[in-house]
Amino acid sequence: MSRAYRYLFQNIQIGPVRLNNRIVFTAHLTNLSENGLPGERLAYYYRERARGGAGLIITEEQSVHPTDRAYEKLIEAYREDVIPGYRLITGMVHQYGTKIFAQLNHNGNQGSSIYTGLPLWAPSPVRDPLFREVPKEMDRFDIARLVAGYALAAVHVREGGFDGLELQASHSSILRQFLSPLTNHRRDQYGGSLDNRLRLVLEVAAAVRNVVGEQLALGIRLSGDEFTDGGLTLEDTVEIARRLDQAGLFDYINTSVGIATRNLYLVEGSMAMPPGYSVYMSSAIRKAVKIPVVAVGRIKDPVQAEQILREGHADLIGMVRAQIADPWLANKALQGMNDSIRTCLSCNQDCIGRVGLNKTIGCVQNPAVGQEKTRGEGCLQPAPKSRLVLVAGGGPAGLAAAKTAALRGHRVILWEKEDVCGGQVRLAARLPYREEFLDLIRNLRHCLEEAGVELRLGCAASPEKILAEKPDAVIVATGSLPQHPPALAGGENLYTARQVLEEEPELGQNVLVVDLQGFYQAAGVAELLAGRGKRVEIVSPNLYVGQGLGPTLDLEMWYRRAHQLGITMTPDVTVLAVEGSTVRGVHNYSGREVEWRGVDSVVTAAPNRVNDELYFALKGKVAALYRIGDCLAPRRVDAAILEGYRVAAGL
Ligand SMILES: Cc1cc2nc3c(=O)[nH]c(=O)nc-3n(C[C@H](O)[C@H](O)[C@H](O)COP(=O)(O)O)c2cc1C
Ligand code: SF4
Repeated sequence: MSRAYRYLFQNIQIGPVRLNNRIVFTAHLTNLSENGLPGERLAYYYRERARGGAGLIITEEQSVHPTDRAYEKLIEAYREDVIPGYRLITGMVHQYGTKIFAQLNHNGNQGSSIYTGLPLWAPSPVRDPLFREVPKEMDRFDIARLVAGYALAAVHVREGGFDGLELQASHSSILRQFLSPLTNHRRDQYGGSLDNRLRLVLEVAAAVRNVVGEQLALGIRLSGDEFTDGGLTLEDTVEIARRLDQAGLFDYINTSVGIATRNLYLVEGSMAMPPGYSVYMSSAIRKAVKIPVVAVGRIKDPVQAEQILREGHADLIGMVRAQIADPWLANKALQGMNDSIRTCLSCNQDCIGRVGLNKTIGCVQNPAVGQEKTRGEGCLQPAPKSRLVLVAGGGPAGLAAAKTAALRGHRVILWEKEDVCGGQVRLAARLPYREEFLDLIRNLRHCLEEAGVELRLGCAASPEKILAEKPDAVIVATGSLPQHPPALAGGENLYTARQVLEEEPELGQNVLVVDLQGFYQAAGVAELLAGRGKRVEIVSPNLYVGQGLGPTLDLEMWYRRAHQLGITMTPDVTVLAVEGSTVRGVHNYSGREVEWRGVDSVVTAAPNRVNDELYFALKGKVAALYRIGDCLAPRRVDAAILEGYRVAAGL
């Protein structure tokens, strides 16, 4: 066991449950359920984190009543036929000594009647800002039915073999809506004073306790601060926590922050948020209560987790995305293998990004996420025969392919024309608040070293050189090349966003950024240039600038920074021509001509084109030839890594 950790791997008692360590995989939606029930895919997902050493897993929310269906794949804990799936999950997780709690919830007004045809339930007829549907103000019969729903779900959880339950009263829950004066305007015994607003939580807790007795642990998750005028502040939450602790019904308090349908970017902070950004909340709560408290929020590595425990800010550490990216984080830390941990980037691209689009959860770095049964640790089979595999290109696709092929026992040589690996990811990391992308390269480079890949840096792979090696298989991962939108090509003072990052050309004072991507290529370069004192305007044909930043929860923070930097945003306009220092465009809806004069430099962010020369030069000359990543079709890093994995896994 590593001596670096005095606290992280200490046992801890949570009510009747003893945990092996302090690392918690807190609740998160996966979209892995099937027809409202947990199944094998979800069980394997949790099992992988248990195998990897997590001390405690808390399941995604389990709904307690049919009036609650905020999204399609919500698990329906009020159905009796949920029990077999629960038993499958708990049985698999318990094999590895990990404990597992079920999170119970009703989303209240933070949902939609679109799936159920039933009115939403809420303490008061207050619309949620995202769903914008007026809910039914619950009467006392509804409240009784809700409490009974929690109790019934608790029966199923108990029968399903769980070690405990957690009541979601945090960023998306009816219990928080009752606690908060923002959403609770009632005049009866459930509204008004804090004691009244706490009444429902305590009734639910008592009903659940009545079902599970002292055999199972019971916890509650609170939003430390709603960060909304008129809502709960940290001071309020500390007082709530103190009273809940005094009530003696709970064994621990978990924390979160914000309101999921108002400021989700606070709940799952991207890399623009400081690491451990909400730890001060668990710290404040911990001072007011006697029961253990969980800290969360961009806690990405075990050293950071250890420090939080050592400094007394929490008793347990929630690490969600860190263990999505690397399910084996806990065991690697325990064995002193920190360098082998595949550090999460907080990019939100494939976890939040996919789940928000109603797709199953994923991770840009880990192609096994959601596919643990077939791609989890140990699934990669040794190749029947070791072969010589040449990989051309050291971007993410090439690195992932080289690593996977080497792990299968092939002899692998990777050629990269630059002196460093990383391809476009290295450039992306030069953008403001994007430097954590460098971890992706570091993670993959480390794997190459462990797997024994022969790395030839500063070597451009020519067809002759490759053929001279007499390889059994060649994987071409030569990436893509930037290009201007065809209508603008040939204009003066024109630069691609990539050129700005790669070559750092001297640009004029007035810069127009033409964005055809909607993601960080334009937004990031604009921010970089504005930060250097340029006067920057972004023009986009989309409804708003930076549309692609929404799914990764980067939009709000970027807009704040962009406005502070004075970046002008012009949506709905298609740029048609660059003529000297004049740029012409057209407004998409009115047809009005738009003209910019005195533009010193134009920066374009358009889709790349494939760099497939090497591939076609080798075509027909090697028996097994593949191309992957951007040189096949320019996309994002997740596609590059997945393709690298998939091709090499089949060699
Ligand atoms: C894809 C995803 C879905 C989530 N869904 C839930 C949820 O259903 N219930 C909940 O209490 N928290 C949910 N969360 C919040 C996490 O429990 C956690 O608080 C958050 O991810 C911050 O921790 P991290 O920085 O370690 O990822 C979700 C997080 C992610 C990444
Ligand atoms: S997609 Fe990005 S944020 Fe999500 S788990 Fe993977 S690396 Fe972390």
